[in-house]
Amino acid sequence: MAAHDDSLWDPSKSSVFSGFYKLTLEERRRRVAAVLGLSAEEAGALTGEQGLTDEVANAMVENALGRFSLPLGLGLHLKVNGRDYVVPMVIEEPSVIAAVSFAAKLVAGVGGFQAEADEALMIGQLQVARYGDPWQAVERLHAAKEELLTLARGFLPHLTQRGGGMRELEVRVLPAPEGPEHEPLLVVHLVVDTLEAMGANLVNTLAENMAPHVERITGGRVYLRILSNLADRRLARARCALPEAVLEDFGLPGEDIAEGIVQASRFAQADPYRAATHNKGVMNGIDAVAIATGQDWRAIEAGAHAYAARAGQYGPLSRWKRDGGVLWGELELPLALGTVGGPLKVHPGVQVALRVLGSPKARELACVFAAVGLAQNLAALRALGSVGIQKGHMALHARSVAVSAGARPEAVEALAALLVTEGEVRVERAQEFLTEERVAVGAGEAPTLASLKPPGGE
Ligand code: HMG
Repeated sequence: MAAHDDSLWDPSKSSVFSGFYKLTLEERRRRVAAVLGLSAEEAGALTGEQGLTDEVANAMVENALGRFSLPLGLGLHLKVNGRDYVVPMVIEEPSVIAAVSFAAKLVAGVGGFQAEADEALMIGQLQVARYGDPWQAVERLHAAKEELLTLARGFLPHLTQRGGGMRELEVRVLPAPEGPEHEPLLVVHLVVDTLEAMGANLVNTLAENMAPHVERITGGRVYLRILSNLADRRLARARCALPEAVLEDFGLPGEDIAEGIVQASRFAQADPYRAATHNKGVMNGIDAVAIATGQDWRAIEAGAHAYAARAGQYGPLSRWKRDGGVLWGELELPLALGTVGGPLKVHPGVQVALRVLGSPKARELACVFAAVGLAQNLAALRALGSVGIQKGHMALHARSVAVSAGARPEAVEALAALLVTEGEVRVERAQEFLTEERVAVGAGEAPTLASLKPPGGE
């Protein structure tokens, strides 16, 4: 695995984050800055207080008006290939960050995740039409393969010098969607090692530069020349193994929890309706890290779901099985990530998020992403296969409901607990509580923490 250059994170300190979620926002900010050694500027960039500026936003997109914010939290306790990570995650959905931290802590306790990622091989596609006989066109392309590879390398001098660049040229003939009486599709694949770049701009430029040469050789017309987001030469895999005993919870033995997870896994393998939701859970974790680290999460999503359907039926990106008293889990998906270029260099929050992760190279970053996806999946299936998702989810959702209802910060936890205890996690009910309390403590006065009835108490 690639060495770290300016890692902020000292793995020996991972336990310092235990109970992190019980701190106030300010206490968490102070703790993170101290533990990670963040400067005031870096801390401000990470928390968004000094994040993306209007000027940079105006340069990034068209018709800009300003910036949009989302919550950023830390996935904790993640151990991958023996290294500890604190994972910046951007997401609006409650419980995802808690779930990743929970599962990561469970797996870290039995050695952590093992993960690996392929080389950064991206595919550029050229669609050739009106080429005459398909098999003669294929023959001509194969005969000119070395010429085309040399031409392509000439368009990628810097990447080639750094050890990346052209790896392969492949030719595919696909049946015409209109039927056999129509011209089959002739597709040329340019396989490029993009090293630390996600590679979209680089591969698209190469495909456009190569189009005239493919037309010359085939006698056809090149229409589309664009990368493929089904980056199935750039897969990442994560695995974990949990002795079933460590899964004991909710008053259930570990083997029952493990069986619930395996039943959830087989359901996803059998049913695309379930597999879609199973994978949404995986991507809850992966997308959150992707946004925090400035990745093209739409490309990641497109590749993941296309890969999930590679066998002809849409299936789960991860699978779980029980063997010898151990629960085994594995996740595999395309992950085209970049550590250079694009918004990575202009968004101050992204730069600090990558430093918090230890400034990993792209392949190591893909290993972290895959482990986060498997951790999220584990937490979700553990809950779904036993007590249901709502118990944990609603407890955390209640906090955002309390905030939405107008509760003051110091009253949020108590009001959330009341809502969960009563079983009615709704803004209207929260507002009723606040109004009642307001009546109890005198009209117009904000409720105090003491005036809110403790859960189940008097
Ligand atoms: P718990 O048993 O209360 O947790 O679970 P705990 O008190 O044992 O704490 C263990 C660790 O969990 C803590 O250790 C924290 O790291 C973390 P510590 O750091 O203190 O040493 N943790 C939290 N982190 C942040 N905020 C919190 C928090 N609580 C614990 N409030 C938990 C609580 C929510 C983790 C558990 O009930 C759970 O995992 N529930 C499942 C929730 C879930 O999976 N949500 C995902 C979003 S829904 C989704 O994925 C879509 C779905 O459709 C996918 C699918 O269908 O497959 C479900």
